[in-house]
Amino acid sequence: TGLITLDPGFTNTGSTTSAVTYIDGDAGILRYRGYPIEQLAAKSTFLETSYLLIKGELPSATELEDFTQRISRHTMLHEDLKRFFDGFPRDAHPMPVLSSAVSALSTFYQDSLDPFNEEQVELSTIRLLAKVPTIAAYAYKKSVGQPLLYPDNSRGLVENFLRLSFGFPAEDYEADPLMVKALDQLLILHADHEQNCSTSTVRLVGSSHANLFASISAGIQALSGPLHGGANQQVLEMLATIKSSDGNIKSFVDRVKNKEPGVKLMGFGHRVYKNYDPRATLVKATADEVLSKLGGNDEMLDLAKQLEEIALSDDYFISRKLYPNVDFYTGLIYRAMGFPDRMFTALFTIGRLPGWIAQWQEMIKDPATKIGRPRQVYTGSTARDYTEIDGR
Ligand code: CMC
Repeated sequence: TGLITLDPGFTNTGSTTSAVTYIDGDAGILRYRGYPIEQLAAKSTFLETSYLLIKGELPSATELEDFTQRISRHTMLHEDLKRFFDGFPRDAHPMPVLSSAVSALSTFYQDSLDPFNEEQVELSTIRLLAKVPTIAAYAYKKSVGQPLLYPDNSRGLVENFLRLSFGFPAEDYEADPLMVKALDQLLILHADHEQNCSTSTVRLVGSSHANLFASISAGIQALSGPLHGGANQQVLEMLATIKSSDGNIKSFVDRVKNKEPGVKLMGFGHRVYKNYDPRATLVKATADEVLSKLGGNDEMLDLAKQLEEIALSDDYFISRKLYPNVDFYTGLIYRAMGFPDRMFTALFTIGRLPGWIAQWQEMIKDPATKIGRPRQVYTGSTARDYTEIDGR
């Protein structure tokens, strides 16, 4: 079998070639299809960026209009799928609900499961982009015991999502344009990040020729972990812990440095960025703007900034090149928008979805793709004889 190279956590193993996203971790550079994240965040929209990631080029005006129209016609959920939400406990975390519902989509749309049929892949792509925000909003609605609303397809994707989440009663709800713009921008910042844990999961599941819904459902579960997308919820919980211990940041930082089990500076550190995460720079600016206008909890923002300042002047973090990542400030913005902490990772999911789809499509179309099947270095027992139970 030859010599097997061991690389736990795949810190130095390329699993694929890819033309979707470029990261230079030392220089703090992130580009989707060659376009710098700063330009996309300032000028593009989430749907346009989704098109770019999936199709490889920015759309013309007609192409974008067509894409947007198609998505807006698929936002509703089958009535039987809506009943699915009754089966979960009211305090269910939205991430397993999202993953289960996306997995269930494969039972409702058996006409678009063939990974090698381009039209079917296109259809399941549109269905996912349209329905995942609806599913996320319904998971939230159930948790607060309010009725599920019908999507209003005359509205844009983000506006529709906010209305589905916060409309109660729906007629009275108009999303604040500042909030729509800020959320749209945050979704752009999350839209892809090359071969991270959830994207690698999506590719690995898809490499067995499992369908797109099944692959995305698995990606959602990977994203839910606290070291990955789940970190945005953890940051707010960390800030709340510090606040309830008299705001003593130094003593919290000491606990991190002493490596107390389970105590990390959440929202800090990254496998690839060894310099400031360019997304965090943009998110921090948005946090300042949104919190000052929406009247969010400035006390928590101040606490986060102080924590960042203390960490960035401490040798523990400097020597390990630990900087704030995308998750450090996002939760504060989501909270100012009115989302509870447990919805934060569901928002990340809506953002990352086009990236997962783009990478899955790239994987399926690539003739070099083989089923993902890593090897191992065996460390167990050598051959031994079976002992009868009364002899053990
Ligand atoms: N707080 C304290 N120490 C840390 C942290 C942190 N957040 N991150 C890394 N370290 C230390 C780690 O203990 C290790 O120290 P030592 O060399 O003394 O053993 C050193 O820094 C290198 O860390 P590592 O765990 O080998 O790095 P990794 O590349 O395997 O992990 C990470 C990357 C993101 C999982 C990790 O930095 C982490 O757990 N961060 C907190 C969770 C977080 O914010 N995740 C979001 C990541 S960005 C967006 C996303 O994926 O959702």
